[in-house]
Formats: sequence, structure tokens, C-alpha cells
Amino acid sequence: MKLAPSILSADFANLATEIGKVADAEYIHIDIMDGHFVDNLTFGANVVKALRPYSKQVFDCHLMVTNPENMLDALKQAGADIVGVHYEACPHLHRTLVKIKELGMKAEVVINPATPVSVIEPVLAIVDQVLVMTVDPGLGGQVFLQETLSKISQLAKYKHQHALNFEIEVDGGINDQTIQLAKKAGATVAVAGSYVFGAEKPVERLNALRMGAVERR
Ligand code: DX5
Ligand code: ZN
Repeated sequence: MKLAPSILSADFANLATEIGKVADAEYIHIDIMDGHFVDNLTFGANVVKALRPYSKQVFDCHLMVTNPENMLDALKQAGADIVGVHYEACPHLHRTLVKIKELGMKAEVVINPATPVSVIEPVLAIVDQVLVMTVDPGLGGQVFLQETLSKISQLAKYKHQHALNFEIEVDGGINDQTIQLAKKAGATVAVAGSYVFGAEKPVERLNALRMGAVERR
């Protein structure tokens, strides 16, 4: 499984140093919040750009903003690799995902815990990644919602049946236990914020996640 430490729980005064602590993770997960789609306000493309020279990892940008299409050009220029937009924030979902791809980035669709998989079926053939939120977005440190597991399985089944190869990412409440549930259900990428950056040695938490993500029989 790929790991995507979320800098939402890192020290905002020292972000470059913080991402250095998780250099062996595949992705860096960057939560962009606008104080509108969610109450919290974090950072935008400028911070993505400022961090870019400090990491060669995949920058996985999760947009919790209304009108995400207005931010895509700036994110491309900033060096974003994957851009995720919420189904709930995108009235013209297909167009927005196509624009992300046309800009040369990977396109991701994100669904909240209460949103069913069926509503994103029309775009599954064009996305590179699907993010199934395993908590309601906006805050770190929340409890993993077990009822999202059936959606992960449903997506994995759809992917297999239609011979598609998008990644299935999970985000919210991931630790060394919940990652096992997500992996078993079919997730291929796990975001973890407070579990990783809440520890003195983030790298030890990454190792624990990797252990948890090893298939158990
Ligand atoms: C929540 C964000 C998450 C957050 C996860 O809205 O999308 O990426 O950082 O935090 P944890 O891992 O602490 O639940
Ligand atoms: Zn996120």
C-alpha cells in the first residue's frame, strides 16, 4: 500500500523540515481548505510551490474548497502531481476532472462518508484515483467511520469488473489498525495525519502503518 502522510497535522511553522521526516512515504498529502466548503482554513497553491523544492515525492493535493476549478492552473504551476476534487463541491465534475488531466496532473474524485459510490460511477473511467473519505472532511484526529468500508469494497469490485486501474485512497482516522481494515476492503493508498505527525518519530509510525498494511491471513 502507498502511504500519504498529511501535513495538516505537521508543524505549520516548519513544514519543510516536517516533510523531510516522512521522506520514505510515496506521497505527501496536502489538505487545501478554504473556510467555506469546510470551516477550517489552511493554505493554497503558494505553500505547495514553496514546498516543492524540498521533496521529490508525489504531491497529493486534496481540495476541500468550493469552485476548485479556479485553483487548477495555480496548482499546476506550483508543482502539484495529483489533484482531488470533492463530488460535493463540483457541479461540473466531468469538466473539472478533464481540465486537471489536460493540465498534465492526475485527476482524483473525492466522496464524503455519506455520499454513495453510485454517483461517481459516470467518471470512474477517467480518474486516476478515487478518495473515499473515512471521516467527514475538515479536521484531523477524528475517528475512522467503519461504515465507509463497504464503499471501498464496492469501488474495488467495480474497478475489477470494468478492468480499470485507478488507485483507491482512504483518508481520516487511519492508524496501524484501521489501515488493515481499509487494505482488506481494497484500498491502495492510505492518508494519515495525526497518527504520523502526532508522534515524536513520524518514521516509526510510517513503519507501523507498513506493517499494518501487510496482508494478514
Ligand atoms: C481531513 C483531511 C485529512 C486529515 C486526516 O479533512 O482530509 O487528510 O489530515 O487526519 P487524520 O489522519 O488525523 O484523521
Ligand atoms: Zn485529506
